[in-house]
Amino acid sequence: MSNLLKNTNAFADHCGLPARHIFDDLFTLLYSHICAGKKEYQHLYPAVSYDARKVQPLDGYRDADRDELMRLLVMLIAELDNAVPFEDVVTDKYGTLLQGDSGQFMTPTPLSNAVSEFLGSAREGGNKRAEPSCGTGALVMGDLRHTYAVGGKDAVSHVDYSINDLDQRLVRIATVQVMYHSIRHEAPLKRLVVHNADLIRNYDTSPPFFAATSWRGVLEII
Ligand SMILES: C[S@@+](CC[C@H](N)C(=O)[O-])C[C@H]1O[C@@H](n2cnc3c(N)ncnc32)[C@H](O)[C@@H]1O
Repeated sequence: MSNLLKNTNAFADHCGLPARHIFDDLFTLLYSHICAGKKEYQHLYPAVSYDARKVQPLDGYRDADRDELMRLLVMLIAELDNAVPFEDVVTDKYGTLLQGDSGQFMTPTPLSNAVSEFLGSAREGGNKRAEPSCGTGALVMGDLRHTYAVGGKDAVSHVDYSINDLDQRLVRIATVQVMYHSIRHEAPLKRLVVHNADLIRNYDTSPPFFAATSWRGVLEII
């Protein structure tokens, strides 16, 4: 088990919160950072919009516990930083925390990598991509990782991705995964549009949860 997971479980025991809740909160922090820091990466994504009502403050932690939460955040960031471009280092950890939770499960990373290789990179299979029930982004990350490995930043720069999930916690993790790697490796997608909608009832009508458009996407609209 990774140190991040061990420490998250230990911290969960200490503060009496489910480990999944703490993991979700780490992504709430990273998501807020990505939204609030959009000026820092506007050279990659000149147009970023998000639903401000869904950028939430964290509550439920004692002051003394916030230091430990920050230590966990630093560990998570180190894992993201050490990954190869668009490598999903999150889903398998999250999967172990999900066991028994509402019957949810995510595609294991080796399987999503195999599916991506089987389906072909975005350049081979078309640049308009969608994952309507993306969970933590296992299949999206497998696809982007493969696209980057085959065609580098240029291939990624043509990809127009729409992702969605009913569960706000999951779609936020998927958004952080894509955006964190894209910013860190200076590999903007043409566009990422994120919805947090019920696919059956309001996929068409709900406004995006988050959207980021690169220069390629912006210039095409003009
Ligand atoms: C089995 S998980 C798979 C997640 C992801 N596609 C993967 O491969 O790891 C199914 C996902 O569908 C989402 N989901 C279920 N019903 C949905 C609905 N009506 N609209 C949107 N998403 C839904 C769940 O929240 C969950 O994340």
